[in-house]
Amino acid sequence: MIYDKLIKKEATLAVVGLGYVGLPIALEFARKVKVLGFDINAERVEMMKNNEDPSQELDSSAFDGCDIEFSADPEDLKKANFFVIAVPTPINENNLPDLRPVLSASKTVGNALKKGDYVVYESTVYPGCTEEDCVPVLEELSGLKMTDDFMVGYSPERINPGDKVNTIRTIVKVAAGCCDESLEDIAKTYELVVDAGVHRASSIKVAEASKIIENTQRDVNIALINELSIIFDKVGDINTYEVLEAAGTKWNFLKFSPGLVGGHCIGVDPYYLVHKAKKHGYHAKVINSGRYVNDSMGFYVGKQTVKKILSERKNIQDSRVLVMGATFKENVSDIRNTKVINVIRELESFSVNVDVIDPWASSEDFMEEYGIGIKAEADENAYDAIIVAVNHKEYIGWQAADFKKYFNDDKGVFVDLKGIYRNMKEEFNYWSL
Ligand SMILES: NC(=O)c1ccc[n+]([C@@H]2O[C@H](COP(=O)([O-])OP(=O)(O)OC[C@H]3O[C@@H](n4cnc5c(N)ncnc54)[C@H](O)[C@@H]3O)[C@@H](O)[C@H]2O)c1
Repeated sequence: MIYDKLIKKEATLAVVGLGYVGLPIALEFARKVKVLGFDINAERVEMMKNNEDPSQELDSSAFDGCDIEFSADPEDLKKANFFVIAVPTPINENNLPDLRPVLSASKTVGNALKKGDYVVYESTVYPGCTEEDCVPVLEELSGLKMTDDFMVGYSPERINPGDKVNTIRTIVKVAAGCCDESLEDIAKTYELVVDAGVHRASSIKVAEASKIIENTQRDVNIALINELSIIFDKVGDINTYEVLEAAGTKWNFLKFSPGLVGGHCIGVDPYYLVHKAKKHGYHAKVINSGRYVNDSMGFYVGKQTVKKILSERKNIQDSRVLVMGATFKENVSDIRNTKVINVIRELESFSVNVDVIDPWASSEDFMEEYGIGIKAEADENAYDAIIVAVNHKEYIGWQAADFKKYFNDDKGVFVDLKGIYRNMKEEFNYWSL
């Protein structure tokens, strides 16, 4: 059994793709078994060799006591016997799955595959992707056959960026294998590092589907609350967060709040399912509608801010807006696929002058990705509107006076996207989702 060989350190476990998902799992495994961490990005590999997490989620102590070697050389993978693939699964500009990273990682692993080896995919994919798209690549490159010669599994990752409470060790892991024997070996291997236990799914497709619906369910539910927020705004004098507070007193009311849905999971994964459904002749209406609503929210917030400024009889082209928070969610530095950019683009389309601040995001990254820098400090007595777009912990607890010093007069528009300053409603020309 591969499990026995791994714990006796007679076999090596390789993690392919060392990003938000891959590095933490590689380091956890490296406390129990011999690990090879592989990534195509040599610069990132060099950082990890120096106990530095390029994704800035882990501090250097996370590398302590780990039996791990890092490499960007595919030749090194030939030493490994159990491969965990955790590469990105993005969408392209047409919102279609971009399988290039997962297929390219499959090629790399296929070239290193030997009889008796295991390959487990962790990347989020649509049901069927592992067996229909990836396994043929493994088989072609290795000349081996799944189940007869090597085993394949799927075990989706459920970590939540920025969350220090729910971690790999504390979240139940779902695992599936291409046969009963492989499932048991894969599940036991993950049980080495997941204290919360491993749920054995009945098939790879079931495990793939379970992950994709977790994020699709969140997306659709958030879309409903976003739509309700638009309706309440039109009706007038109804604060969505106050409605949610009241409705939330019922035992079975689901707790979702309005907001921008960015990042590389919730706003992306539903498109994988939509794509698969379409291939099977079904046009996914509810999921697509949810995506449409959530993808429109940034522009909606920008437009509402402009309307509020105009209602103060100000010249929109001379106005200045401060956007607080640029990352795709709170307390992370990741700006990829942030929907705050849609708020900014909408404001800019009205020729509004926009300044952005963010205690987490890097100005260079934001400039490279969106052509906009992030200011170190906001200007005092300068702005016609302030939009708190991301509820970073640094912004929690701000008082009205902390904001007032940045407004250029007492008609300043205050947009509290996450509704965290509701207690200041009377102090400002206030608007929230
Ligand atoms: N970030 C999360 O919190 C999270 C949570 C659950 C699931 N997921 C899923 O996990 C997968 C990985 O996401 P991530 O956030 O860790 O991505 P990431 O962008 O942080 O990291 C991916 C890493 O893979 C490397 N890579 C890309 N192509 C490669 C290849 N062909 N061979 C080897 N390395 C390669 C990149 O250099 C990078 O270091 C995705 O499918 C994602 O949807 C992510």
